[in-house]
Amino acid sequence: MTRPRSISARQRQPANAALPQATSRPLTAGAAAVLLATAAVLVLLPLATHARPLINAPIVSSTGAITTTHPSDPRALRYLNDVSVGSAFQIKFTCDATDQAFCRNAESALQRAAQRIASVFKFRRTMTVSVAMFLPCETSTPDPQSCDEYSTLGFALPTTRIPVIHKDDGVTYMYPTPLLKQLDLAGVAEGQVPWPEYDILARFNSLRNWWFSTSGTNMNSTQRDLEFVATHELYHGLGFGDDLAMSNQFDQKSPELLPFYNSFAPESQPPPSATVSTMPYNGNVFFRFAEPSIWNRFTYLADRPVLDYYKVLNDTFNAIVQAKSPALQTVNVAGTKSVAYTPASVISALQRNEKAGTIMEALHAYGTTANKLIFKTSAWPAGTTLTSNLVLESSLDPFMDGSSLAHTTITANVTSEFLMVYATAVRSFKTAIDATKAPASGIGPITKDVLLAMGYTSADAQGFTSRKDVADIDPRALRAPGTSSTGDAANSTTKKSAAAAVVTKTPAVSAVVALSAALMAAWI
Ligand SMILES: *[C@@H]1O[C@H](CO)[C@@H](O)[C@H](O)[C@H]1NC(C)=O
Ligand SMILES: *[C@@H]1O[C@H](CO)[C@@H](O)[C@H](O)[C@H]1NC(C)=O
Ligand SMILES: *[C@@H]1O[C@H](CO)[C@@H](O)[C@H](O)[C@H]1NC(C)=O
Ligand SMILES: *[C@@H]1O[C@H](CO)[C@@H](O)[C@H](O)[C@H]1NC(C)=O
Repeated sequence: MTRPRSISARQRQPANAALPQATSRPLTAGAAAVLLATAAVLVLLPLATHARPLINAPIVSSTGAITTTHPSDPRALRYLNDVSVGSAFQIKFTCDATDQAFCRNAESALQRAAQRIASVFKFRRTMTVSVAMFLPCETSTPDPQSCDEYSTLGFALPTTRIPVIHKDDGVTYMYPTPLLKQLDLAGVAEGQVPWPEYDILARFNSLRNWWFSTSGTNMNSTQRDLEFVATHELYHGLGFGDDLAMSNQFDQKSPELLPFYNSFAPESQPPPSATVSTMPYNGNVFFRFAEPSIWNRFTYLADRPVLDYYKVLNDTFNAIVQAKSPALQTVNVAGTKSVAYTPASVISALQRNEKAGTIMEALHAYGTTANKLIFKTSAWPAGTTLTSNLVLESSLDPFMDGSSLAHTTITANVTSEFLMVYATAVRSFKTAIDATKAPASGIGPITKDVLLAMGYTSADAQGFTSRKDVADIDPRALRAPGTSSTGDAANSTTKKSAAAAVVTKTPAVSAVVALSAALMAAWI
């Protein structure tokens, strides 16, 4: 198997974005080629490890919007405003562009997008969002060759996830803070959760040819409806597609996927927030696999909980650590006694383990085969009245980081569930809603059920969704004194002997079928 190449270049946060036509984040040459080949569609990609940070922002005047010369482009103006959408969203809106009218149009498109979401759900606590319309490489005349943000359309992500323990299975799931704010778990109302400054970060490229429904013009083929893209991205910000358990493609040359890993020490509680310039996952050091996300409580791959696959890899990693495998290369990290490893050495050790190798190949094989990944809204908690299933996007081969697995199957693009597909023909939001007979919000019924399953509350419900009887926030993540527990659970997983794994040459998996026998063995 090939060794991973540059690790830092692969650093990323879980997906969450997706927009039409080239979106954020540095694309690989292959992915970029695919995007160019499909320029007629909007590809919603994920996230960006280096979108523009909000630096040098001028003081906001009490009247709201102000302008100032952008430091690196005298023709650009920076426009800032605070936008409230009911009590649902508090948006810090920053716009770098050459045209103030554009910024005002973008601001209202954003506001309408947030209103669509607020018309479908109700929220107990206000979510904070940082939205920036940015100039690629901080200039209004970026060089397409050297500016890797040139083709970015936009992206969004929840900045912070807090560990929550489910009482039925004892597993810890990471909850994005926008969701946790809506729940009644012990500690939330008591003010013990250290909320981040912004729950959601969203970034959109000011230089794209955005179309606004208020313009009175027809959208043409070079334009994109910002309101549609923003609704899609905010939906990611709420946690749609927040997979942590299977969408890490460490090495693009190997047909394998694996969970995300933490690059922060296990004792860091709460886990660090992502910013536009720092991502706590998949960095240069590997402490342990990231806990699965609440999204992963509902995802089933080839009819089996994604968590089952995750557990084999997690257990194998723990066993390799316990066995003090010489294959693991430790890395010194200042300020912690926890041991960190080079990601390449961990993945190499897992690849040489027969079970783990099989699982990683199965994740990839199924993750690149249509109709294999399903979000089952009925999965949890016991007694839920939800029954719908959403087929997720697993048809892309090669795997596309940020598009694959984090979206609704592309075949839903002609149905009322079109909002969260990764790519769409160029059409305005309203045209798509009319064509698919979707609800006026643009949020299809199953797309809505997905967030209801995770714990959000329907706007027309009485009261709010309760989870306090079925889940607890990990007490170590709460501010309250006296709850710290440093014991760890490395104990239970170490007996399974994976240490004797022979390096077997695994046949190239081209058909999912070829995996089933090996998988049978891996579940034991
Ligand atoms: C599309 O609309 C934009 C903005 O009005 C305009 O600049 C562009 O020339 C139009 N393109 C076509 C192909 O009509
Ligand atoms: C739906 O997706 C199919 C397959 O990618 C594509 O051919 C078609 O143009 C799309 N239609 C719309 C309305 O996006
Ligand atoms: C994964 O392993 C860690 C120890 O590294 C353990 O604390 C955790 O409970 C495991 N998670 C699952 C879901 O098995
Ligand atoms: C390991 O598990 C056993 C049995 O559950 C328990 O008695 C023991 O204290 C644990 N050891 C550690 C180090 O957690």
